[in-house]
Amino acid sequence: MPAVVLVGAQWGDEGKGRATDLLGSSVDYVVKFNGGNNAGHTIVIEGEKYALHLLPSGILTPGCTPVIGNGVVIDLAVLFRELDGLAARGIDTSALRISANAHVVTPYNAVLDKVTERFLGARKLGTTGRGIGPTYADKMNRIGIRVQDLFDEHILRQKVESALAFKNQVLAKIYNRRAIAADEVVTELLSYVERLRPMVADTSLLLGEALDDGKTLLFEAGQATLLDVDHGTYPFVTSSNATSGGACTGSGVPPTRIDRVIAVIKAYTTRVGEGPFPTELLDDMGEHLRKVGVEYGTTTGRPRRCGWADAVIGRYATRINGVTDFVLTKLDVLSGLDTVPICVAYDVVGVRHDTMPVNQSDFHHAAPIYEEHPGWWEDISSCRRFEDLPANAQSYVLRLEELIGARISAIGVGPGRDEVIVRHSLLG
Ligand code: GDP
Ligand code: IMO
Ligand code: MG
Repeated sequence: MPAVVLVGAQWGDEGKGRATDLLGSSVDYVVKFNGGNNAGHTIVIEGEKYALHLLPSGILTPGCTPVIGNGVVIDLAVLFRELDGLAARGIDTSALRISANAHVVTPYNAVLDKVTERFLGARKLGTTGRGIGPTYADKMNRIGIRVQDLFDEHILRQKVESALAFKNQVLAKIYNRRAIAADEVVTELLSYVERLRPMVADTSLLLGEALDDGKTLLFEAGQATLLDVDHGTYPFVTSSNATSGGACTGSGVPPTRIDRVIAVIKAYTTRVGEGPFPTELLDDMGEHLRKVGVEYGTTTGRPRRCGWADAVIGRYATRINGVTDFVLTKLDVLSGLDTVPICVAYDVVGVRHDTMPVNQSDFHHAAPIYEEHPGWWEDISSCRRFEDLPANAQSYVLRLEELIGARISAIGVGPGRDEVIVRHSLLG
């Protein structure tokens, strides 16, 4: 039985939550391994819309155990709000397991994220303001607060006090904000302890044993390849490893146990926040994609920047993640266009690049080289077999598949659970 990693191929919001849901009942464990409530996954089941931020999408599948791995950063207020929201809609969330080693987004880190962005002004990153960057910085600085620290008040107080000794200087002296009392932070964190206790586990051990038992595990990434702190468009990235390697470090499951890597790719490209985006459309066509694709952030509500498909990025995602299968989403959004371009390479001041330029400035100056494909006018949302698609839509998919270098195994033709064409089994 396989261990499958599912990642985003572009800058996020490709439809990872939806793709996880697609694998549905065949999966025993869904593991979130990176990021926090900066993620926003929308899943539509029988016309009902669910927006998840911190919880793995598998929480919506009966019988599936959702796991939050050690690589995740957790805002506990958000966690319990999200759990309460699902409980109110009749979803049983009691199976959730949380790593004792996951880090906690403290109230001071959420404040620091926002004031830092404001301080940067025009040079801001456009973060989600959820405290993600400062929390990962604390983790690397070895001054972070872990879930297990909440169960020892003495240790918790000591750690919060040491972190605040420095951070309060920064808040007061650089950002002109009031200092935060360690007591308030400790009291808030301790208020979650009893509710948290039964969920906390050695999740690496749990997952290792599940694999030994022949269970199917799905590791679901937050964010995406180009937002990865190592392989993305640094510094315009998130602060974690959103690529397939992150599934191992963020869960404690080794690479030798991973069988497949599925990447989700949108039929066009979107990005939220600042940073380079070669195929971005700043004209009416960009507005058209935003409107038809309903491209507004699930987390912050910000309009997403929109552009054409970029096969250079797709190929890069294949290489960095070791993609075995792609799920192509939102093909339906491209219906009704005369031509549908695909970016096949970049022109960087007169030099052709078929691969991602390693130099940040080159990527900033990359002009897309397009291949034009004839469009289609039919509504494709009721197509369930590849052959049902209009001939031009089929050619578009086949050409994209050729350019990105791994098979497109499923195609989304609408947001609903059943609005999909499956060409090859995703679980092998
Ligand atoms: P994630 O962050 O990768 O999970 O993606 P988001 O949920 O932020 O954004 C994807 C959006 O696209 C959601 O609103 C989905 O309901 C929607 N979606 C996913 N697949 C399809 C598709 O094939 N067609 C259409 N029209 N919408 C889709
Ligand atoms: P999902 O999982 C799209 C972007 C932010 C910003 C940058 C850094 O829904 O695909 P952060 O708050 O993480 O420090 O912000 O990363 N970003 C996302 N963009 N989808 C996401 O998640 C994102 N998570 C973070 O907009 O540019
Ligand atoms: Mg999203």
